[in-house]
Amino acid sequence: MKHFITTLDWSREELQAFLDHAKALKADPIQPLLKDKSVALVFFNPSLRTRTSFDVGARQLGGHAVVLQPGRGAWPMEFEVGAKMDADAEEHVIEAARVLSRYCDIIAVRAFPKFENWEQDRRDHVIKAFAEYATVPVINMETITHPCQEMAHMLTLQEHLGQVDGKKFVLTWTYHPKPLNTAVANSGLIIASKFGMDVTLLCPTEDYLLDERYMNAASEYCSQNGHELTVTHDIEEAYDGADVVYAKSWGALPYFGRWDAEREIRDQYQHFIVDSEKMAMTNNALFSHCLPVRRNVKVTGEVLDSEQSVAIDEAENRLHVQKALMAGLIGD
Ligand code: CP
Repeated sequence: MKHFITTLDWSREELQAFLDHAKALKADPIQPLLKDKSVALVFFNPSLRTRTSFDVGARQLGGHAVVLQPGRGAWPMEFEVGAKMDADAEEHVIEAARVLSRYCDIIAVRAFPKFENWEQDRRDHVIKAFAEYATVPVINMETITHPCQEMAHMLTLQEHLGQVDGKKFVLTWTYHPKPLNTAVANSGLIIASKFGMDVTLLCPTEDYLLDERYMNAASEYCSQNGHELTVTHDIEEAYDGADVVYAKSWGALPYFGRWDAEREIRDQYQHFIVDSEKMAMTNNALFSHCLPVRRNVKVTGEVLDSEQSVAIDEAENRLHVQKALMAGLIGD
């Protein structure tokens, strides 16, 4: 049994096998690969795409999805081992994971960081606790990485570009009025570098560098593939000749828990918005974003509605890659 918590645990060949299966499922979507199987979808945070695509995907494969929202219709949960549970939590993840494993064949979990202390958040303790106590495979529906989004992104790039090796991939920080999770940014960096792309990270200042775990992994994958991970704060340098522009906003790690101070910095970089002028510097690049996206804040409506935008394709591909993942993790 193997969990799908981070693509760092999976080789490019293993991930490509999931992508190839996803392509086959996209062409022939209704198959009994999860016949009479159940999937628990545990959401600690909101969702539109993830919730719908997992539910629909399980049903298209003959299975059944159960959505649980701890604290909102399901019991609030404790994660600390040895905790005296005299506050709000009514049940411990130890029992929850074991019980759900008796009912369901897969447990999928969404648990965003708390945005107070990055050293604690980077432990990814919620999904790791589920993985420790579950006796069925656990899938990450977004914690400090978003591996299902990574897979959908790569499937979309392969569909539009064919071979992605050597293509210039730009992960650009964009402005957002709130400090957002770094998960998709971490994931974008990992999947593009793992699949041989020539990766550039564009962010306003050193404060917006991603966690060293993901920076180092991306750097290592790049060097294994004959590239060097480029980090720049120069918009023109980043966009020049790009084949892919992937946009995401995130909060600066050194300012976790001090968001008023971070906002003073963040507000200075609203011009990082993806617009047609910047896209004109590229090699007719594809544009994508994981969604949801704030139009005319992170990216202009003009870019989002252009033929270069593949964000809707990427959202659709969540369905296909997750079906391949669910079938593969509990496959015959
Ligand atoms: N991209 C993504 O995970 O969308 P949701 O938050 O709507 O699930």
